[in-house]
Amino acid sequence: MRSIAIGLLGAGNVGGGVIRILQENRDSIERRLGAGVQVKRVLVRDPSRGRDVDVPEELLTTDADEVLADPDVRVVVELIGGIEPARTYILDAIRRGKHVVTANKALLGQHGREIFDEATRCGVSVFFEASVAGGIPILRSLREGLASDHILRLSGIVNGTSNYILDAMAREGSSFEDALAAAQRAGYAEADPTMDVEGTDAAQKLALLALVSFGIRVDPAEIPTEGITRIRPFEHQMARDLGYVVKSIAVARADEDGPMLAVYPAMIPRGSLLADVHGSYNAVLVESRALGRSMYYGRGAGMMPTGTAVVSDIIEVCRGLQSFAEGRPPPQAFSRVEEGRPKPLDDERSENYLCVHVPNVPGVLGRVASSLGEHGVSISRMNQEAPGDSETVDMVILTEAVEEAELRAAIATLDRFEDVLAPTHRLRILPPDPLD
Ligand code: HSE
Repeated sequence: MRSIAIGLLGAGNVGGGVIRILQENRDSIERRLGAGVQVKRVLVRDPSRGRDVDVPEELLTTDADEVLADPDVRVVVELIGGIEPARTYILDAIRRGKHVVTANKALLGQHGREIFDEATRCGVSVFFEASVAGGIPILRSLREGLASDHILRLSGIVNGTSNYILDAMAREGSSFEDALAAAQRAGYAEADPTMDVEGTDAAQKLALLALVSFGIRVDPAEIPTEGITRIRPFEHQMARDLGYVVKSIAVARADEDGPMLAVYPAMIPRGSLLADVHGSYNAVLVESRALGRSMYYGRGAGMMPTGTAVVSDIIEVCRGLQSFAEGRPPPQAFSRVEEGRPKPLDDERSENYLCVHVPNVPGVLGRVASSLGEHGVSISRMNQEAPGDSETVDMVILTEAVEEAELRAAIATLDRFEDVLAPTHRLRILPPDPLD
């Protein structure tokens, strides 16, 4: 049986998963493909380091050229992450006519245009399923399964670490720090977990989802992004009392006047589809014109789930090699991609949770309520909680639906009040899922 040689750049957590899946599923992969997949070379930093998987020592190298310049290697799998040297290695592989599989959303976010253009020029593919939502075949579903449909909107939970943290805080009352440490131990977090908890990782994934869904390329750094670091047990308690759960949500919509993209923590109604996504699981809810709503759910991080996405990409490339169908459009899904800029969120309307920290003195509530009223923010519910000392209170205010720009102006005014002792905490409240 024919064997297709691949080279791996990196054999860490995900690389280990890839090697294990190729070893454990060798027979079924060969049956599907009609060819074997042979790992020919593996670039590692330290060959003597202990690994979770058995890799024959003679495959390991610390010299990238031994992978990139090997004429037998048809597919280069980049799993080292980060921008450099990953970018240089990928461009080098492409220019040598090798197909690329990568899980590197940060790199594709920053240099996607250069990489895809070069791949098109050189007639090779760059597959990147593992870069979004770990093991869920979401890009493949959008690209192939929904190729016939017009995608209108996506909303999802695409960062396993944030979801794990928020879930542990809500379910077990863990502190943010303990929950983050547990997510790191489980191998979900990025090397720099700031990327996870500040929403950067989710924004990078959202940019790729928008590329594959709408054919629009945006710079992830331009996506309005809020992290979860300000969420306290108090917000979870309030959410529970009010019938909500706190989740970090990524949303994208293709409007006539440009794409709307955002990442933010929000209160979502208990019982809605995304509310029941727990732990490191991810889910993406897609709304498309003909199909309506469809949801894609699964493990969004971790060695084996992410490894499956990488190996499926390897198999897809190898299928192309088997069938001589190498001239197909690149896997960014659209042959013609438009450059786009996310719209400002100013006109977006939402209900909101506000938590205003004020001294416990007469008249404050009135001043806060009047100021919100002057900015056109209508209050639907109000509650006061003393956080321990009776000197100050957390005033919880739920607003009726209001435009983003108006709400921002109202919060900016509030936060200039002498009475307001800490920046006002705001979470959007998302509506229930439609019933149809
Ligand atoms: N750090 C990412 C997450 C891993 O937590 O979702 C998968 O991209």
